[in-house]
Amino acid sequence: MKREQWGTKYGFILAAMGSAIGLGNLVRYPSVVYENGAGAFLIPYFVALFTAGIPILFLEYSLGHKYRGAGPWVYQKLSKKWEWLGWWQSIVAFVILSYYMVILGWALSYTYYSFGAQWGEDTESFFFNDYLGVTEGVGVLGGIQWKVLIPVAILWALLFWVLHRGAKRGIEWASKFMIPILVAMIVLITIRGLTLEGAVKGLEAYFTPDFAALSKPEVWINAYGQVFFTLSVGFCTMITYASYLPKRSDLANSGFIVALSNCSFEFFAAIGIFSALGFLATQQGVEVGEVVAGTLGMSFVVFPQIINQFPGLNSLFGVMFFVSLLFAGFTSAVSLAEPGIAAIREKFGLSRKAAVNWLCGASALLSLLYVFKGGLYFLDIVDYFINNYGIVVSAILMVVLAGWVSKQVDSLQNHINDVSIVRIGAWWPIVIRFITPLSLAAMVLWNIYKEWMMTYGGYPQWSVNVFGWGLLAVVIIAGALIQQRRWATEPSPHREEVSS
Ligand code: PFF
Repeated sequence: MKREQWGTKYGFILAAMGSAIGLGNLVRYPSVVYENGAGAFLIPYFVALFTAGIPILFLEYSLGHKYRGAGPWVYQKLSKKWEWLGWWQSIVAFVILSYYMVILGWALSYTYYSFGAQWGEDTESFFFNDYLGVTEGVGVLGGIQWKVLIPVAILWALLFWVLHRGAKRGIEWASKFMIPILVAMIVLITIRGLTLEGAVKGLEAYFTPDFAALSKPEVWINAYGQVFFTLSVGFCTMITYASYLPKRSDLANSGFIVALSNCSFEFFAAIGIFSALGFLATQQGVEVGEVVAGTLGMSFVVFPQIINQFPGLNSLFGVMFFVSLLFAGFTSAVSLAEPGIAAIREKFGLSRKAAVNWLCGASALLSLLYVFKGGLYFLDIVDYFINNYGIVVSAILMVVLAGWVSKQVDSLQNHINDVSIVRIGAWWPIVIRFITPLSLAAMVLWNIYKEWMMTYGGYPQWSVNVFGWGLLAVVIIAGALIQQRRWATEPSPHREEVSS
């Protein structure tokens, strides 16, 4: 079995950009910025980017490229006993995939509702009551919400199809098609946003720094969380994508391009989004702070309101916004599935088709949970725990494994420098060994302390135990159990290491 490869270098860069640019850029970022000190948030954001985001991105690239495999394979190469960490990260991606697809399903419905602004005047009630049909509490499951099930099923079918086609004919092809259109649409939306009445008010809200926020540890925590999520690091995604590169590939250059384009996309798209928020606030005669909402509220309640108020071409801008969400999200969803697909192919010797069917089949079943009327509560709890602990803790373990247990950072640095034109300096091993683990550990300890003091979101303790802590435990145990099995494909010529 020969390892799959990307068609071209740009194909790989576009696929990696497709993974990085997603819902995290378009809707998560603006709401995180606003809630965490606005202009001042850029400071912790950049600190997180340079102390963890970019160094780990390079780590993932070098691991995937050097050992030519998905996460579990790569980690057991570093140290025999650490395979479970790769399963952990791949399973976290698999869990996120299950609800990411549901949110994309909502975006598909809203693309349709954009025609003639079918959500009406009260967009909040439309979203929660008419569309989701949310039940009164976390214990009440309600029935299946068909309006949600249908678009979610359509998207799953598309995802199966793209993934069956493979890295080059599926993932690369979808990214080449969707990313340029996405960028063009966001440029148009941003220009239109900037020319709306009240745009300046929105920009003030985006950039005016609240320096007091910098003394709050949770602001720093949120900056790290955002950086991991937006760059797609800590999920074995970038390991897997880099493993499909040819032997001679400029890793450093690609890493810089992907990080830079992802972060500037996020930064500029937010200019458009905040302008639109300023416009809405002006129309309603309120402060911008009153129209900003959380990630989901921003997309499905506030944006429809903005579209309602638009001076013209309302349906067109509605469609453009929701299709942007769909394109950005779809190429990310593909990359949430691929680490698990590649991992089970290697471990169990499955064909691509079989691996896609197993992994996406299971994730699609799991996503049914959020299609119930009471599903929103589960989505919220799972998202919070998986993001706050699942990723950050695994990232600490990952840098400890590379920097201390296997002591491979220097040889990985050499590997990157051997294949790249730009050289990675001595800063990189130092950051991976010291700065990343220490800053991440400080952040997790603070978070756990906060969790002891109060139950997340005021939900009943049982629900947080099951869908939060319980789920995390299942993920870790599953990884440890899979580690006990033998590798079906070992040894295999296609995974010959690239010498460094
Ligand atoms: N980076 C994506 C976003 O910003 O929405 C989310 C994501 C995709 C996270 C793929 C992790 C991943 F492996």
